[in-house]
Amino acid sequence: MADLIHLIYNSVATGSQPQQEVRDILTKSRTNNAASQVTGMLLLAEGSFFQVLEGPSAAVEETFARVCADPRHTRVTVIIREPIARRAFSEWTMGLASLTSEDLRSTEGLNDLFQSAQVLEAIDPGRARKLLEAFKNGRWRVRLNGALSVPKAPPPPLAEDAADAAPRPGTVRPEFSFAFQPIVDAQAGKSIGHEALVRGRHQELAAEVLNRVPLHDVADFDEDARRVAVSLAARLGLKGRLHLNIVPQVQSARNPGLDSTLDAARRCGLTPDRLVLEVKHEATIADPVATAQWLQQYREHGVLVSIDDFGSGHAGLALLDHYQPNMISLSMWLVRNIESHGPRQAILRGLMQTCGDLGIDIIAKGVESIDEYGFLRAEGITLFQGYLLGKPGFEQLPRAMLPAEAG
Ligand SMILES: Cc1cc2nc3c(=O)[nH]c(=O)nc-3n(C[C@H](O)[C@H](O)[C@H](O)COP(=O)(O)O)c2cc1C
Repeated sequence: MADLIHLIYNSVATGSQPQQEVRDILTKSRTNNAASQVTGMLLLAEGSFFQVLEGPSAAVEETFARVCADPRHTRVTVIIREPIARRAFSEWTMGLASLTSEDLRSTEGLNDLFQSAQVLEAIDPGRARKLLEAFKNGRWRVRLNGALSVPKAPPPPLAEDAADAAPRPGTVRPEFSFAFQPIVDAQAGKSIGHEALVRGRHQELAAEVLNRVPLHDVADFDEDARRVAVSLAARLGLKGRLHLNIVPQVQSARNPGLDSTLDAARRCGLTPDRLVLEVKHEATIADPVATAQWLQQYREHGVLVSIDDFGSGHAGLALLDHYQPNMISLSMWLVRNIESHGPRQAILRGLMQTCGDLGIDIIAKGVESIDEYGFLRAEGITLFQGYLLGKPGFEQLPRAMLPAEAG
């Protein structure tokens, strides 16, 4: 058997009359595909294309490369590319279905895919069929209506004062201080807090600082660092919440500095509900029961809990059940280039539904491009952190920049 694959993608039509263009596409496709043993199905609904290309992998890739370069559509997003045992569309050099009944009537030779549902029944009940059904039900329709465009005007600063740098007094162990990175509520158009990121006295990155902490001292360092973060943020005039990290090795070893963190907050006039503890998924490996117990203690005081880097390593869905956090932050791999990455988009939608049902907020971290931001916004994500919205400021609470909302 030849090395058969199917490649399934979606895209958005660029022309205002895609129904007209699709006839030319179809004529050309049927000739070309017959010659190269490519079969498949092209769907058009509300300006979105969804196409299954199947055949020998070289032929499919060659066809797809041509299709990608076609200016009649844009935002081509591969949903799946995988080997298959047999074709689902062996009869069709390129089937076509459109969701508007008018097109179905007026275009000769169209497969009345969605009206009679006969075609769907004829398709192998594998992944292609599931995806076609998902598309039929309104998934995978690409939206272009503004939210993804690059803002023309420079982004406006948020209403939050940038504070003067405040050097940290007297230090212990490796000299350290903090940078603070803003977290933004894009819907409300304002910063809701900052994450404290440990830095060396000369702004060395966290890993470099932590590597210099002797192993026996990690827990004390971790506790001390959080106290410093709290008082520095307060001194700098923190207005929203403060997100605090815990060194992963410490998390399951003992109650990681609950009292001293809360004491520091109290002295600085920060109520516990302005503290968010970011738990790394590594904590859950060694001793999940101990982790759950001390997290519970924090929560009893009103401290909020976030699971960091959700979606990577061991940060699986089960954590939402075990720890019932107030929020999660999306792992950066999930955010990166999500606007053109089908599997990441599907994972995001599932997560949003799960978290929505559980009342868990989602923060998209590590957002670096306007396309990532635009896609996530269009999907309904409201909380963001990343270079696009504001870099960490050393011993400062930097202002966040909100990309202009189009539309
Ligand atoms: C949504 C969409 C789907 C397309 N599907 C196919 C296809 O399955 N096969 C194909 O040969 N061309 C397809 N095309 C057209 C190609 O982009 C390209 O115009 C065509 O292959 C050029 O063929 P030629 O080199 O023989 O002129 C598609 C175009 C669009 C916009």
